[in-house]
Amino acid sequence: MAGMKLAILISGRGSNLQALIGAAAEPGYPAEICLVVSNRADAGGLKIAAAAGIDTAVIKTGDFDSRDDFDDALDARIRESGADMICLAGFMWLLGESFVHGWRDRLLNIHPSLLPAFKGLHVQAQAVEMGVRFSGCTVHFVRPELDDGPIIVQAVVPVLPGDDTETLSARILEQEHTIYPLAVRWIAEGRVRVSGERVLVEGGDPPEQTLISPAV
Ligand code: GAR
Repeated sequence: MAGMKLAILISGRGSNLQALIGAAAEPGYPAEICLVVSNRADAGGLKIAAAAGIDTAVIKTGDFDSRDDFDDALDARIRESGADMICLAGFMWLLGESFVHGWRDRLLNIHPSLLPAFKGLHVQAQAVEMGVRFSGCTVHFVRPELDDGPIIVQAVVPVLPGDDTETLSARILEQEHTIYPLAVRWIAEGRVRVSGERVLVEGGDPPEQTLISPAV
């Protein structure tokens, strides 16, 4: 499916957005970004999108009477853009069940842990605190529960003895920037199928679906 259109939802810095913009600019990449939406007016990623000539919108949760009203406004703006798929890229807001069902298997998220371990916030700090030896990141289809849904790709990184939250976050982030464009590519190429709670990637054997950081 060439030219799949993506809406990217952000709340902050936008480094994953930047990675997706970079990928989409590569010749032959099968997806393009048609809209970037932030729920915060001060999100750094809005400037990145504008500099790349991408349409942006700010839709703030506080401007609506209810969570459903916010979700409906967001949904309407995204549908108006002609997007085929949504990528949550540091979007720090839990979308409601009806929004999530409306975009079932066309709504992706990236999370900085090896799900289902460490859901929620400050997960890199938790990984350091818990003394896990490996962490990483996950791209998954979104289900209504927080950080839940069929896993498309994960990257593993080591947690080294001297690590703090910052050093581990940086090591994970580098991998995020590889696996998000990769997951989108597989989907846009029509190679991804959801079967129950599992994702099958056609022609992607297990090593390709699980990237191990060269630092391991
Ligand atoms: C990324 O590390 C992403 O995985 C995380 O927020 C950061 C956004 O950075 N997302 C979550 O924790 C979602 N549960 P970015 O704005 O530079 O892409």
